Amino acid sequence: MTEIDLQKQAAGAAAAREIQDGMTVGLGTGSTAAHFVAALARRAKAEGLALRCVATSLATAELAVGLGLAVVPLDSVDGIDITVDGADEIGPGLSLIKGGGAALLREKLVWESSRRCLVIADAAKVVATLGAFPLPIEVVAFGHAATARRIAAAAHAAGIDAEPRLRTRDGVPVQTDSGQVIYDLACGSLPDPQRLARDLKLVTGVIDHGLFLGLAHEALIGGADGIARLAR
Ligand code: A5P
Repeated sequence: MTEIDLQKQAAGAAAAREIQDGMTVGLGTGSTAAHFVAALARRAKAEGLALRCVATSLATAELAVGLGLAVVPLDSVDGIDITVDGADEIGPGLSLIKGGGAALLREKLVWESSRRCLVIADAAKVVATLGAFPLPIEVVAFGHAATARRIAAAAHAAGIDAEPRLRTRDGVPVQTDSGQVIYDLACGSLPDPQRLARDLKLVTGVIDHGLFLGLAHEALIGGADGIARLAR
C-alpha cells in the first residue's frame, strides 16, 4: 500500500471509531470512503452494532451490502446521524470540492440530510485555495453540450477562464448513477467559490456541482504523524 493509501485507511478507521450503536450512517463514495465502509463493517460485526446505512452511490451500496452492512434508501429514514465521506480538495473553513467519483449529486443529497458530516482524507487533499482539482458539474444528458456553453459563459462572467470538459471513459461519456453526464471545470484557483456555486445552480440543465460549502462539520486527515482533526 502507498503512503497515501495508508493515510486514507487510517482516516477511514478513525472515522469508524466515531460511530455508535443504533446510528443511521451515511456512507460516502471513493477510495477513502471504501476504507471507512470496510472498517465500519468490521466493527459492526465484532461488536454486534445495530446500524442502518444510506449509501451515496450504487458502488458503495454494493460494497456495504457485500460486507454485511444493512443499506436502506434515503427516503426510508428520518434523517441521518452522521455521514462520512471523502473529498477531492479541502479548503478554508472545510469548503470542499467533491465529485471526482461522479457521485456528487447523491453525496450532496445524503450530506444535506445529515446532522453531522465528517470528511476523511489523506493530507494531500488539504489546500489553501480551492480550484486546482477540476470542479465536477452534473448536467442533464439531454442537450448537455448546449448547457456546457452556458456553464462556460457563467464561469467567464465569474472571472474564471476555463472551458468545461465532458468526462469520458474509453471514449464514451461517463454516466452518473442518475443517468446524467459530468463536466469538469478546471478553474485553477477559486477565490470566491460561493459566487460560482450560486451562479452554476442558476444554469438550466445543471443538476448540481461539486462545491460543498458550509456542509462539512469536521475532517479527519491522515498524515505522516497520525490523524489530525479539523473543525469548520
Ligand atoms: C466521489 O464522487 C467523490 O466525491 C469522492 O469522495 C472523492 O473523489 C474522493 O475520492 P478518494 O477518496 O478516492 O480520493
